[in-house]
Amino acid sequence: MTIVSEFLPATSFETDSNMVLQLNTIDEAITRQDCLLLVLSNPRKKSEAQPRKITARPVEIQGTPVLQFTNHLSRQETHDNLACEEAVIRVQKLFPREYRDCHLYTPEADFVFREKPDGRIRSKRKPPTKQRTSLDHNRQRAYLIPDGMPCPFLEAIGVMTPAGSVKPTMYRKFRQINRFLELIDDVVGYLPEDRLIRVVDFGCGKSYLTFALRHLFVELRHREVLIQGLDRNEDVVRQCNEVVNRLGYKDLQFQTGHISDHTPTGNVDLAVSLHACDTATDDTLAQAVKWNASVILAVPCCQHELAPQLESQEQAGLLEFGLLRERAAALLTDALRAQALRQCGYQTQVVEFIDLEHTAKNVLIRAMRDMSNIPNDSGQPVIPVPESQYQQLKQHYGLGRIGPDRIVSTV
Ligand SMILES: C[S@@+](CC[C@H](N)C(=O)[O-])C[C@H]1O[C@@H](n2cnc3c(N)ncnc32)[C@H](O)[C@@H]1O
Repeated sequence: MTIVSEFLPATSFETDSNMVLQLNTIDEAITRQDCLLLVLSNPRKKSEAQPRKITARPVEIQGTPVLQFTNHLSRQETHDNLACEEAVIRVQKLFPREYRDCHLYTPEADFVFREKPDGRIRSKRKPPTKQRTSLDHNRQRAYLIPDGMPCPFLEAIGVMTPAGSVKPTMYRKFRQINRFLELIDDVVGYLPEDRLIRVVDFGCGKSYLTFALRHLFVELRHREVLIQGLDRNEDVVRQCNEVVNRLGYKDLQFQTGHISDHTPTGNVDLAVSLHACDTATDDTLAQAVKWNASVILAVPCCQHELAPQLESQEQAGLLEFGLLRERAAALLTDALRAQALRQCGYQTQVVEFIDLEHTAKNVLIRAMRDMSNIPNDSGQPVIPVPESQYQQLKQHYGLGRIGPDRIVSTV
């Protein structure tokens, strides 16, 4: 029998046989690899450093089944993977010593263990709600840049340690970078195959994603690139150029400037703009279309322009609430941008950038130049562009002149 008493607080718990039996249910589920999910919640200590919740789920790392523990802190998540025996000891230390509630999900039943005010643990057994899935489904996500492998640019910008471990506070950024690379990697086929690829990143800021782009093209796909990062903030541009000089990259350049004034040094194949403020996204899209970029990726940021203008009798019940009006305006702005790109001959998709759990700014507009619909000599698209959804949306909401008009007016 597993000894649990040494981990119980001396005064507040009785280690009666019933409690030991209940806690053994958890140990045995982990040992038999029957723990499909374990959730520890209701911490005794409430502080920034104390995870508000700890979850554990089975994953397979290099062919070995382990339990992956996730500490849910207020601003970050940390993970570690433990073999069964270590996992049993970890849970014994945490429950009920540090957390008052424990939910255990097994193939046979769901269990709730809860510490009551008298210090005893009460348990409930319910029919199972989770099924065993192949561990293949739970494999550690295969990131394009894996955690654990040293990566010079991630070290230089403070995301990884020199040994290649992602710093716990930077995990969210790390996931965002990888997701962004996946979304670019999917559409590499739309970029020129036989020559240097030219990229512009508008409003590059600290340029985590600009450096990541270079890594994808040069280190992973062995392509020749020239990447320009543009930002109006001189300080961030200086800092980015310092990192470039330190790393000795010749194919990555940063410069100060405004999106709408920028003149590229050559053709632009890929234009990206992530979290550029308010209507700066419209400026980016308009510039990218003007330069006939093959691929455009934009994650819009805050949007303030449309909300005060929106008029719709049919939707008065929605628009009377300020918060919902703002959100409806943000969605409508992105729909107009996507439709404007379609109208300009781009195959356009709107996809989730990163889980809403991580950022509210999670809409990504991805547009690829539709090669089957390049205008012919008389300037007419080969396949006629369908009746403009763009104009219909504008009319429906009674909109006057707005930022996305700059995109359609380029063609
Ligand atoms: C929120 S930051 C995003 C940085 C980076 N793209 C990212 O996603 O991590 C927005 C950046 O866009 C820049 N920016 C906003 N409007 C701009 C404009 N019209 N021209 C150039 N830079 C602009 C700001 O200076 C800021 O650095």
